[in-house]
Amino acid sequence: MSSSLPLEAKVERDRRVWNECAGTYEERIVCGHPDVLAYESFEEDFLDRVLSFLSREEDRPLGLYDVGCGSGRLHLRYGLKVASSAALSEADVVRVASERRGRAAYAYDPVLAAKLEYVGGLDFSSEMLTLATKKLRDAGLGSLLGGRLRLERGSAFELSPMTGAVVPVVACVCNSIGVMQGPEGAEKLFASIERAVGTVGGIGIISAYRKEAVGSFALGNYESTMDVCGQPKWLTPDTYANAAYRKVPKGYKRAHESSDSIEVDVFDQEGRLVAGAQRLVRNPDLVRKTTETGHIETHSDYESRWYSFAQFEHWIASCWGAHKAWHVLGAELDVMRGEPAQIAILDPRERLAGLFHRWLKARKPTG
Ligand SMILES: C[S@@+](CC[C@H](N)C(=O)[O-])C[C@H]1O[C@@H](n2cnc3c(N)ncnc32)[C@H](O)[C@@H]1O
Repeated sequence: MSSSLPLEAKVERDRRVWNECAGTYEERIVCGHPDVLAYESFEEDFLDRVLSFLSREEDRPLGLYDVGCGSGRLHLRYGLKVASSAALSEADVVRVASERRGRAAYAYDPVLAAKLEYVGGLDFSSEMLTLATKKLRDAGLGSLLGGRLRLERGSAFELSPMTGAVVPVVACVCNSIGVMQGPEGAEKLFASIERAVGTVGGIGIISAYRKEAVGSFALGNYESTMDVCGQPKWLTPDTYANAAYRKVPKGYKRAHESSDSIEVDVFDQEGRLVAGAQRLVRNPDLVRKTTETGHIETHSDYESRWYSFAQFEHWIASCWGAHKAWHVLGAELDVMRGEPAQIAILDPRERLAGLFHRWLKARKPTG
């Protein structure tokens, strides 16, 4: 039914969905499910490599722009990498140090600090942006907001051509494309990124889950985060599958786990336990439909799509065909963390050729 809504109506529906789930999304997904954390860290390592390669190879400064930035995961990471203590208040120096403690990925990076002029980003959800702002302030980066760290409310489909002296790197990560209002929205995102960086010769990156990984990754993933997105349609019974109840899974199901059921505790709106350890079981026909279409549907307004590798090839050709682009399977770069992923990279000036030639050569070791 939802597929027949006009795009503008889907945008409004999804904005409400993301405003409502912002807090639980942060807790249970961004900082929660171990397979999602692995995928996020794979993407972050990929971006680190791209940015450090460009920092060395390019004379011009860089700008990173995150489309669908959510709660500011990339702002936090790159803000911490480039924030020099000399520019911070005493209180913020303490906060930054505490955030960096034990996390090598957040350490100050002098090369990147000299090259990365800003980290910008947009999201259509004001709640997500509020979370991002709080996260950055709590981490001691509040004084960079509005300057080197920028957050704006806006549409992923309406990016303007990037201007200024920087080489812009526009990224859309964590399968955000899959929640951008269906295939029509996904195509608009591809076109929007081309508009932003195509003429100026920047870099566009879309990192997403693949449809081919729905059976091995998506099913267990959505089952164990149904308190964020709603009960998946392929699970039965649907007795408590509505907004009056919160179903909290008893643990995370990991990728490739073959169990066809999950146990949840069901709570009412007041937080009272209604049913303990309710067992929800997969319906094979609905599982088949989900794996065939890559369309994740739940008993809420939330929906997500995992697009096939071939579908991405199609959009790369139709929206980015005038330019050089790379399309890589996550597993080619990292067989464990990247298994469910694909990354499309728009690179009109072939700035990343050296990096990709090295990586793609490495997949075929010669004796
Ligand atoms: C899967 S979350 C990812 C958030 C963040 N990139 C991360 O990696 O943690 C997708 C984000 O896209 C945003 N979003 C969805 N559709 C959008 C649109 N059409 N324009 C702008 N943001 C959108 C949602 O509000 C949400 O914050």
